[in-house]
Amino acid sequence: MRKKTLKDIDFKGKKTLVRVDFNVPLEDGRITDDTRIRAALPTIQFLVREGARVILMSHLGRPKGKVVDELRMDPVAERLADLLGQEVSKVDDCIGEEVKKAVAQMKDGDVLLLENTRFHPEEKANDPEFARELASIADVFVSDAFGAAHRAHASTVGVTEYLPSVAGFLLQRELEALGEVMENPEHPFVAILGGAKVSDKIGVIRNLLDKVDYLLVGGGIANTFLAAQGYEMGESLVEEDKLDLARDLLKEAEEKGVELVVPTDVVIADEFKPDANYKVVPVDQIPADWQSLDSGGTETLKKYTEIIKKAKTVIWNGPIGVFEMDAFAKGTNAIARALAESDAKTIIGGGDSAAAIKKAGLEDKMTHISTGGGASLMFFEGKPLPGVEALDDLE
Ligand code: 3PG
Repeated sequence: MRKKTLKDIDFKGKKTLVRVDFNVPLEDGRITDDTRIRAALPTIQFLVREGARVILMSHLGRPKGKVVDELRMDPVAERLADLLGQEVSKVDDCIGEEVKKAVAQMKDGDVLLLENTRFHPEEKANDPEFARELASIADVFVSDAFGAAHRAHASTVGVTEYLPSVAGFLLQRELEALGEVMENPEHPFVAILGGAKVSDKIGVIRNLLDKVDYLLVGGGIANTFLAAQGYEMGESLVEEDKLDLARDLLKEAEEKGVELVVPTDVVIADEFKPDANYKVVPVDQIPADWQSLDSGGTETLKKYTEIIKKAKTVIWNGPIGVFEMDAFAKGTNAIARALAESDAKTIIGGGDSAAAIKKAGLEDKMTHISTGGGASLMFFEGKPLPGVEALDDLE
């Protein structure tokens, strides 16, 4: 990696501001998935062992620049303390007198968690004065927030103007795992792209068409490709204004020798709800008042599974159906199983595809599951991540 890392700094006694991505899912104030907290532990434990004074900061949810009590970091502090087996102090702001006082009382090896950075509108605006204030309590900055590295905010980018800034272990591991498959993939290289909209994935598709041998599409994206090929999609989610684009992408794939594979049969439902009536039909037999909710038709899954079996490298971003509803999770689960059984290097973009793998209990079978949804997507697009670019270069 061409960025400085934890190995490049002597942390003993240093007030170390660490940006983590503790944006975890909450239900009634309880954390329902602590993967992101666990993923940051190696960096935090390393810094504690080295005798740093560890000051953690993160966003949580989207409070839109205001204090939202349900999005306070207290449950995160509690869970982190359990996982670390040591006390984690928590303050109710991320800047100001209370923070300065708490930092002044820290001893080497102590851990402090600041309040949600997004309670201040200046965070998302990457306001220089706010960034300077965040940085003012520390001697050095560590970024371990891969999940937020696509955001140019004060806590991810702004603070790097004022402090020596290096990458933590998680950030490093993510960049290595994702970088390796994008730069040096073993072929056949297969990408599976799902999710609701083609418009969210245009950049990714374009970038991948220069790299992969197969691009399997599913979910809402597949609906738009099918509509572009002239199929009647009934009530299915289709981006009508992206049909020309989908046709261009199909043509581009053909020109580049990439097999862009769309479903040949799908699971359709008479309503968008968990207990709707549903059946599998070929894509040319979707009734006008039904909708495709899962690209996991029998023929389609057979074809997708066969391609995955041949692969040496697979990346997956986005479920291929409405996997939150059991009736429409078959396709997504089948993809997860095919990846688990494959010998290929399997890289899973964060967000919904990671959630689907976890729901299926197959995390241990994957080569790498990213902690970043938007960030991994931006990486697959081949774009530089602002939160990485801003860190100090290796000399
Ligand atoms: C994520 O959950 O992908 C990251 O924490 C970024 O969150 P955001 O999309 O609200 O910026």
